[in-house]
Amino acid sequence: MQQFSIIHVTDPRIRKQIREISGQQYVGANGDLFVFIVDLYRNQQIRKQLGNDDGRLHTTDIFMQALEDTVLAVQNFLTAAESMGLGGVILGSIKNNPAKLVKVLGLPKMTLPMLGIQVGVPDQKPQLKPRLPLQFTTFENQYPHEFNVNDLQDYDSHVTRYYDLRDANRRIDSFTHQINGAKLNNGDPDKRDEIGQVMRDQGLALDWDSKK
Ligand SMILES: Cc1cc2nc3c(=O)[nH]c(=O)nc-3n(C[C@H](O)[C@H](O)[C@H](O)COP(=O)(O)O)c2cc1C
Repeated sequence: MQQFSIIHVTDPRIRKQIREISGQQYVGANGDLFVFIVDLYRNQQIRKQLGNDDGRLHTTDIFMQALEDTVLAVQNFLTAAESMGLGGVILGSIKNNPAKLVKVLGLPKMTLPMLGIQVGVPDQKPQLKPRLPLQFTTFENQYPHEFNVNDLQDYDSHVTRYYDLRDANRRIDSFTHQINGAKLNNGDPDKRDEIGQVMRDQGLALDWDSKK
């Protein structure tokens, strides 16, 4: 059903607004900025203009399908860019203020911004970030419930070495330290947590009721 769209952000004023939302100085600076949109508006219009109602467009199922389309497009876009010798960074930070981003991009109801990609000619060759060993992420037939955090010690030391030796933004950190820290701690109310409300305001996944 092709339920995604891509906005190439070329206007310096809009790039600046998105940079401010993200809080990251490189967003909308060098290179090209693209924002990937979960898009049920187009298919809503098709049905409407052909004289039909919205049908299942406001269900969580269809929203999830559109999300799947959009995320696949993001990864394929990045793979294509890298195959041409370009480099890119996926940007979740553009959603630090989702309601504002909807406004800045002039998004109609039935759409939601999902991820950005900043793409350009790399001026460095960053080291690969070590990934979790396959034994922790790939299973056979059924999900194994037993898990022991101590089994991640080797992986943690790989990650610590990576952060210590990488060219830019060095720090002392490990995987379990990140998961056990600020990224997931309860903190002050965060604009990012408004995403659920913004989804509803956009008319998406309206059949899902958290109080049920
Ligand atoms: C879904 C997602 C969102 C991300 N959002 C941001 C972001 O907002 N800002 C940023 O600098 N990097 C962001 N990153 C990039 C990561 O911080 C990290 O640099 C990248 O995943 C490392 O990938 P690599 O090991 O393949 O180079 C994001 C990555 C993913 C997968």
